[in-house]
Amino acid sequence: MKKASIMIDKHFILSEIDQRIYGSFVEHLGRCVYEGIYQPGHPAADENGLRQDVAQLIRELNVPITRYPGGNFVSGYKWEDSVGPKQERPNKIDLAWRVVESNQFGLNEFMEWTKTVNTQPMMAVNLGTRGIEAAKNIIEYTNLKKGSYYSDLRRQHGVVEPHDIKLWCLGNEMDGPWQEGHKTALEYGRLAEEAGKAMRMVDPDIETVACGSSNLDMPTFAFWEDTVLNQCYDQVDYISMHQYYGNHDGNSQQYLANSDGMDQFIREVIAICDAVKAKRRGKKNINISFDEWNVWYHSNEQDKQIEPWSQHPHQLEDVYNFEDALLVASMMITMLRHADRVKIGCLAQLVNVIAPIMTSDTGAWKQTIFYPFEMISNQGRGHVLHTQTKAPTFASRYGDSSYLDAVVIENDNEDLLTIFAVNKDLTDDLELTCDFRQYEGYLLAKHTILHHDNLKAVNTEGAPATVVPTASTSVTFENGHLSGILEKQSFHMIQLKKG
Ligand code: AHR
Repeated sequence: MKKASIMIDKHFILSEIDQRIYGSFVEHLGRCVYEGIYQPGHPAADENGLRQDVAQLIRELNVPITRYPGGNFVSGYKWEDSVGPKQERPNKIDLAWRVVESNQFGLNEFMEWTKTVNTQPMMAVNLGTRGIEAAKNIIEYTNLKKGSYYSDLRRQHGVVEPHDIKLWCLGNEMDGPWQEGHKTALEYGRLAEEAGKAMRMVDPDIETVACGSSNLDMPTFAFWEDTVLNQCYDQVDYISMHQYYGNHDGNSQQYLANSDGMDQFIREVIAICDAVKAKRRGKKNINISFDEWNVWYHSNEQDKQIEPWSQHPHQLEDVYNFEDALLVASMMITMLRHADRVKIGCLAQLVNVIAPIMTSDTGAWKQTIFYPFEMISNQGRGHVLHTQTKAPTFASRYGDSSYLDAVVIENDNEDLLTIFAVNKDLTDDLELTCDFRQYEGYLLAKHTILHHDNLKAVNTEGAPATVVPTASTSVTFENGHLSGILEKQSFHMIQLKKG
């Protein structure tokens, strides 16, 4: 049998985990908002139209921040259309998704929703078709108490206390030719600098995120980050990263190697951030906001059939299978292994649109990818230990890819050590050993596994529990040594707790 080991030292702490790494994303796209989080008249909706069956599942995911309102949508967004009396809000065409937006759910409704699901807003401003003026005005509306035009307008709209939104994205994917108001790196860098500056003049306590590349394969990648950050280094705290993967050629082993691509992408962006810091003789690190990541490809073909200018059609409704859940687990492990620099992460998206949660008029259910996210988000709190792994490898487009992805997290408050591990090997089990003798008095508390024989197994409304985590007894813990079997194609959460 193939052998693998995980090695840590309790003194070698990589970083405290910023809980915002477990964020998500709500865009005005498809049925994420309408028929997703908001559906007035639905039996499960409250008096504000917020679906409580969906809210309950979101609370289970435990997402500390939610990015809003886009995405590509934000590059044509006129925030003023989304506030005030609902009967006066206009139907507007959205060029990004070729649909009509009714604006019946807007900024203030979103902020109401954040409270019901225990999340904080991560708001994006439109730097596509708009600029400094609109960015300055929206933050005046959301963050100033009273006595100015936009803060008083908010009060007229029934919201007396400021929303006090502290995290702001300066546009979305501005490097992408598909983006409304697409810009060159220099044009965008200048605009981000000036918009960020004006927004901080309104509220000096905000944090801002500059747009990085839309993915690792963008032809302008690296030049873009370097140019943008050289320009706006003083006005930003984070650079964004986005990455989606798909099993386009049906080679599942290669598909699972993609977390190595994510790792490479993160390492390269960190290098650029640090190079700019050095060039600028800067004091602060620019950290990473990985504010869009997921699997996205199942729905590509069916989306070509959508009639333009309809309202909230079924769009980007990927039905996720078991192998997608394995890759999602590996992507989360990859971000955690860079927790010293990746401070924000947003699973794109939250409901119906490339999402862990799906809805119909009759119910809401959990897709396969719900489970690794839920397990890691809830149990992956504390600090990350430098985690070395030794395991067999396979050849992939990224070089030698390890069959084992793993990270170890220590939670001092609860005397808890948590190992997240994926065995990507599709043919063989891995025989695992780990030396945890430094953790005297610890006992094996829990071992949960996500496994299915069929990589293509899915959860649907009719069969929502096809892929679910179960308890495992395949490892033992004796005299500080953890050993046992990680089944082929499986994700594990193993917890040791002081006895
Ligand atoms: O999440 C779906 C889309 O993917 C977002 O709107 C955009 O930012 C990205 O291209």
